[in-house]
Amino acid sequence: MRHPVVMGNWKLNGSKEMVSGLIKGLDAALNGVEGVDVAIAPPVMYLDLAEQLLSKANSKANSKANSKANSKANSKANSKIILGSQNVDLHNNGAFTGDISPAMLKEFGASHIIIGHSERREYHNESDEFVAKKFAFLKENGLTPVLCIGESEAQNEAGETVAVCARQIDAVINTQGVEALNGAIIAYEPIWAIGTGKAATADDAQRIHAAIRAHIAEKSEEVAKNVVIQYGGSVKPENAAAYFAQPDIDGALVGGAALDAESFAAIAKAAAEAKN
Ligand code: PGA
Repeated sequence: MRHPVVMGNWKLNGSKEMVSGLIKGLDAALNGVEGVDVAIAPPVMYLDLAEQLLSKANSKANSKANSKANSKANSKANSKIILGSQNVDLHNNGAFTGDISPAMLKEFGASHIIIGHSERREYHNESDEFVAKKFAFLKENGLTPVLCIGESEAQNEAGETVAVCARQIDAVINTQGVEALNGAIIAYEPIWAIGTGKAATADDAQRIHAAIRAHIAEKSEEVAKNVVIQYGGSVKPENAAAYFAQPDIDGALVGGAALDAESFAAIAKAAAEAKN
């Protein structure tokens, strides 16, 4: 059984006040939601603050779970919020001005690291090969890669969607073997759907997710069966349940709607309800 994962990509948004308000809001809004892994990726600048706030929230959730379990009452407790990040460098130290290492991310409790987001591929010229190297380096450092893949509007119109996704995944499989995908997360994000409000239909997304899984299954059915594939691109509380009702959509990578505690929690809740 694949466990659903809903992750918030905060992108270049935040301030101390916003991070603290959003995490407190999420902690409250996720009350009683379980059966879904919920992760947030604030800008690295705020990882320290986020870690401190999350450790407070998570320890409160744990003690609540313990006391409820002890009293044998309704044992629902908050899902623990996992900390993530939006990028990583290919080195753990050295003369690499401006970069952030896996070791640093780990020190601040970040475990789920987004790589290959289309905004980095486009604005920072990150190639499939470069992203695959980041994937390998994260695994080597015991972190969970959240590998973003997806086609542009032109590629979509040209019917190249599955080929583009396969190529992006093959950059990992061909250098590290299909087993490298074990424990990793793939986020299928059609570029034309990101931040546009023009989300893929649930049926179309399911078709692509199934094709991605089938592509991986050509190398290993076992890996294909177990790998979590999220959908991303204009996921909102209004459309989330339709995605999660699809058999091959295991969660979501959420941008805009992750900046609002109620909206993000509603999406996490929809995943928990659909998948349990
Ligand atoms: P969006 O962004 O939800 O705002 O479309 C998704 C993403 O870029 O991960």
